[in-house]
Amino acid sequence: MRNKLYLLLIILAVTFTATADDWGRTGHRATAEIAEQYLSKKARKAIKELLDGQGLAIVSTYADDIKSDSAYKKYGPWHYVNFPFGQTYIEHPKNEEGDIIVAIQESIATLQNKAASKQEKAFSLKLLVHFMGDLHQPLHIGLADDKGGNDFQVRWFGDGTNLHTVWDSKMITEYEMSYSELATTAPTLSERELEKIKKGNVIDWMYESRTLCEDIYANTEVGEKLWYPYMYQYMDTVRAQLQKGGIRLAVLLNEIYK
Ligand code: ADE
Ligand code: ZN
Ligand code: ZN
Repeated sequence: MRNKLYLLLIILAVTFTATADDWGRTGHRATAEIAEQYLSKKARKAIKELLDGQGLAIVSTYADDIKSDSAYKKYGPWHYVNFPFGQTYIEHPKNEEGDIIVAIQESIATLQNKAASKQEKAFSLKLLVHFMGDLHQPLHIGLADDKGGNDFQVRWFGDGTNLHTVWDSKMITEYEMSYSELATTAPTLSERELEKIKKGNVIDWMYESRTLCEDIYANTEVGEKLWYPYMYQYMDTVRAQLQKGGIRLAVLLNEIYK
């Protein structure tokens, strides 16, 4: 009986201390589905083979699914990077356990490594799809003090939550679109706009999220009651970030499978 009680307590503790699923399933799938629209023929073929026919949307949440498995503990810090406002990624001491930049670079390296097995490559591809989504969630380029907004309490339509969760999933859920609707109704881009999004590298894209993160902190107070006005203010940003993540994921994959 005592053992059962302990087991129950452990299950409850794990359930309620687990952090949110990053962009949330819908956000990650939308980014992956948008990437599919921009893949080259060669990349599409290679990916299909590697994933045994599965699409990018389905595998985009894998990196969150393995979070609760202790065998994959080392990938925990790979979902984000934290450094103080006003500092650069380079000046700030690196997290020895890795961060989202290391994660993306290592995933790409494995996909390009001729000696890596199909299984290792499939694993790395799933991680890359996910981390390119996280890279575009502004609070994943966050502050260590409040764990990227996880300790920044706010109210969302009257309910208690935190700023990180509002950005991961609350706004997207409130928007009430499926991932495929988010992908098919993504903003229309001119050729010039598309080229501008494709330009740069992973570090540049990280700083873009960082700038958004700074703007969010400048415009949000601890304990603030967030609801419709916050959606008007930021939902276009969320949609643009999901789209940029998808386009840039395709840029990386098209480069890998040139
Ligand atoms: N845990 C600590 N910092 C985090 C961040 N910026 N994003 C997600 N999870 C975190
Ligand atoms: Zn998150
Ligand atoms: Zn994540």
